[in-house]
Amino acid sequence: MNEEKVTCTCGEEVPEEELFERLDVCLEEYRQKPGALIPVLQIAQGIFGYLPEHVLKYIALRLGKSYSEVAGVTGFYSFFSTNPRGKHLIRVCLGTACYVRGGKEVLDETKKLLQIDVGETTPDKMYSLEVARCFGACGLAPVMMIDADVHQRVKPARLADIIESYSKMEALTARPEVEEEAEQIRVPERLTSLQEFRVHARRIAEGNAQLGDTKRIEITMHLGSCGIASGARGVLLDMMKELQENSVNNVVLHRSGCRGLCSLEPMCTLIDEKGNEFCYGELDRRKVRRIIKEHVMQGRPVADCLVNT
Ligand code: FES
Repeated sequence: MNEEKVTCTCGEEVPEEELFERLDVCLEEYRQKPGALIPVLQIAQGIFGYLPEHVLKYIALRLGKSYSEVAGVTGFYSFFSTNPRGKHLIRVCLGTACYVRGGKEVLDETKKLLQIDVGETTPDKMYSLEVARCFGACGLAPVMMIDADVHQRVKPARLADIIESYSKMEALTARPEVEEEAEQIRVPERLTSLQEFRVHARRIAEGNAQLGDTKRIEITMHLGSCGIASGARGVLLDMMKELQENSVNNVVLHRSGCRGLCSLEPMCTLIDEKGNEFCYGELDRRKVRRIIKEHVMQGRPVADCLVNT
């Protein structure tokens, strides 16, 4: 065990000793249980961000196994990584369905955009690139995952926008004043985009609070896995940008799961000042702009973007 500081999966610098203390708690819990190795490795990877050799040796020692057995299991499952990963893990599926529908082109374009090869991490430690053999979503091929988000029917031409949406989220959360607010509402999981969403929703709500309830408009963005796969995250970002650029401060943003109309995602629900509900679907940047300009700012619902619910 050495005394160096390790960047934890939440982005915080933590002394390695503290991380080992966390690992000890888990080892204590699993030590006597059969089949403890894989859950312990999963938890260790969650704690350290990856599985360096000295951690594997420590686990082997504490579980009474040989190092080669532990290293063998780590090497067998692609989920485990013995190299440090970036903040966002991009996995491109090269299973049969994805491969024949353009998965290789998606991978090549991702490599080109990030300027890294498979198994590598960008110099700024932001993105790591890996391939996968099937996510079980073959009907949506080609598929890629970024962290826990599934991106379906990915076209190489869309990749720059997809990756940029993650970079923008990072840039926004890195602003000092946002960091300060993020600290107050820190969530336990490493869900940067959700955290970022909350920060902005809060800022808009705070501005709105001075106006009183009667003038408030509520917009709920549906961020179920279907919404995220259809680009809801980017749409949400566009919406935040549009609200900020137009100095709109009477909107409260919410986040919810799927609304049950997956084929019409990305979707949002808008409740106006009088409590009337409107549902907008198949959103893109252009529609978002119209909704904010026409409906939110001028009180005129955008009829041709509404969906029947
Ligand atoms: S082959 Fe890619 S999800 Fe199944």
